[in-house]
Amino acid sequence: MIDHFTIDRILDSAQILDVVQEFVTLKKRGVNYLGLCPFHNEKTPSFTVSPAKGIFKCFGCGKGGNSVNFIMEHEHLSYPEALRYLARKYNIEVEERELTVEEIQRQTERESMLVLSAYASRKFTEWLLHSDEGIAVGMSYFNERGFREDILRKFEVGYSPEKYDSLTGAALADGYRKEYLLKTGLSVEKEERIFDRFHGRVIFPIHSLSGQVLGFGGRILKSDAKAAKYLNSPESDIYHKSRILYGIFQARKAIIKEDKCYLVEGYTDVLSVHESGIENVVASSGTALTQEQVRLIKRFTQNITILYDGDEAGIKASLRGIDLVLEEGMNVRIVLLPPGEDPDSLSKKLSVEAFTRYLADNETDFIRFKAELLLKDADRDPVRRAEAIRDIVRSIAVIPELITRTVFIKECSNIIGLSEAVLYNEVSKLLRQQQFRDRNRYPDGQDLVAVKPRVPAKTDFKEAPSYYSEREIIRLLLKYGSEVIGEKESDGAKVKMTVADFIVNEITRDELGFSIAVFGEIFSEYRFHVDQGIFAGDQHFVRHPDPAISQLSVDMLAESYELARIWSLRQSFVESEGRMLKEVVPETVLKFKSDKIKEMRQKMHTEIGIAATAGDMETVSRLQKQVNALNKTLNEISRNLGRRIVL
Ligand code: CTP
Ligand code: MN
Repeated sequence: MIDHFTIDRILDSAQILDVVQEFVTLKKRGVNYLGLCPFHNEKTPSFTVSPAKGIFKCFGCGKGGNSVNFIMEHEHLSYPEALRYLARKYNIEVEERELTVEEIQRQTERESMLVLSAYASRKFTEWLLHSDEGIAVGMSYFNERGFREDILRKFEVGYSPEKYDSLTGAALADGYRKEYLLKTGLSVEKEERIFDRFHGRVIFPIHSLSGQVLGFGGRILKSDAKAAKYLNSPESDIYHKSRILYGIFQARKAIIKEDKCYLVEGYTDVLSVHESGIENVVASSGTALTQEQVRLIKRFTQNITILYDGDEAGIKASLRGIDLVLEEGMNVRIVLLPPGEDPDSLSKKLSVEAFTRYLADNETDFIRFKAELLLKDADRDPVRRAEAIRDIVRSIAVIPELITRTVFIKECSNIIGLSEAVLYNEVSKLLRQQQFRDRNRYPDGQDLVAVKPRVPAKTDFKEAPSYYSEREIIRLLLKYGSEVIGEKESDGAKVKMTVADFIVNEITRDELGFSIAVFGEIFSEYRFHVDQGIFAGDQHFVRHPDPAISQLSVDMLAESYELARIWSLRQSFVESEGRMLKEVVPETVLKFKSDKIKEMRQKMHTEIGIAATAGDMETVSRLQKQVNALNKTLNEISRNLGRRIVL
């Protein structure tokens, strides 16, 4: 089919970075690039691309390969299909014979369905643009609605003639099999008769991320009360409504560029908004947003703005669905459209400038929007008010980021008129239920007392030099504190030594402190427990009355795994962390110590500078000796850390 010479040319042109970047947002990390893996759901990037090696590899799910493998996996294509895809992208001509009938039959079913869908889409556009009926009926409909021709072409809209079997007949005559006409749902069979599903409708083809036609939406032209306004392709091997967003192919580049995605409801909304120059827009096609759709957007941006039309009841009904978007850690904003308008109608009523300004001026953060909407009519009714507040709290609780949650609690406290402390407590109560009740490890913490939230000091979130190693220490304590990693002497007898014993002893022996307040607090509690011989389970911290501590603990425990930045060079760390505690724990402690020593050394350097300026050479040489001693210790640590160099 495709000769080797051509394959080589394709592989030469298809640089891995270029190929992957079309689908995944990548950031440069040293010589490699890092991003969120498109093949499994992850919150911490473990998907790497090495331009030098020409490969991608995900350390989360294990998938890896070259450019062709990536396209095969990502677009669900066979090897030759992926090659053809890349050839098209890089304008490399692939000489192929017309396929024989037998070859058509040998193609896989999926391929056949894709080929047929592409054919049907071409036919529909041809009919719209060049047939008398298409121009008179379909095109004049689009013209009446005021759609520009370049937009119609961009979205490859079409027209399916009135005659009941125009497409079916044409396809069969051109050698396509009835089997696939039925499987794609383009044709429908009824009592021995086979006819076009979409006949007499204008057609909106639905594209995959890479532009393949997967399915169709067909809109009726007359206002016929009996027939459905829109018909859509049925679910099939190639078309899964819940996994695709209408317009994603045309919007993809703009979404990356603007770092934002507008979400509307329907086909015509996408076209119209596009027409007004806003190209980062997709539609959920009239159904509730699914998790898969959210993740599709998340590959390109964290920011999603939903354009809401409709009445209050409808909006309220759809609010719950938004929690799904929040759960993915995305930033959700809402634009409420004026009564009776949808994005299509509003964008046509307003000038491009006025429409753009409307969107910008009316964008509200989702949590605020929800809080204001729900509280507005619960105003005087305490029961409904409480219900509304619980509902809002639930939305905040699903946000995975501690910091983002904190910001929203602050904001909602103003809107709701409840103290932050109360909201903190409600959120952590829910978190404990959601994340831990499933595993049945923790009873509900109903009796928890409300305490004043410790407003985190600024330095808490500032990246102190030792931030990551401090965080690692705490994470190990919380996650593995009670695991046994050896033995220790106690009153002359040998007893088991836990991770907590080891860490606490090491760090207290050297009198090292924590720079980040909340880490320090957790550590001192562990220290207290170890001193007292009490077993400090993670439950103690999860249920901690200080909300900063309990939230941090929940966050850390909820992380299924984290590519700890300190250890990110050792990719195998992730899978085997638990099994390698004997190694990981002492190493983490060493890393912590060396960071602390570096902090001290930094301070001394400053003092040396001051003393030198004052001409106090005695102090200078005394401090210099101390610095030398610190350097020696650092060297020892770095030797202990093996080949890794502690800088
Ligand atoms: N929809 C559908 N089936 C229907 C009605 C609607 O699949 N019977 C989907 C379509 O994707 C449609 C979207 O829901 O685009 C929004 O529906 P609606 O607002 O009624 O249609 P509009 O997009 O406004 O279409 P038009 O402007 O052509 O009336
Ligand atoms: Mn409409």
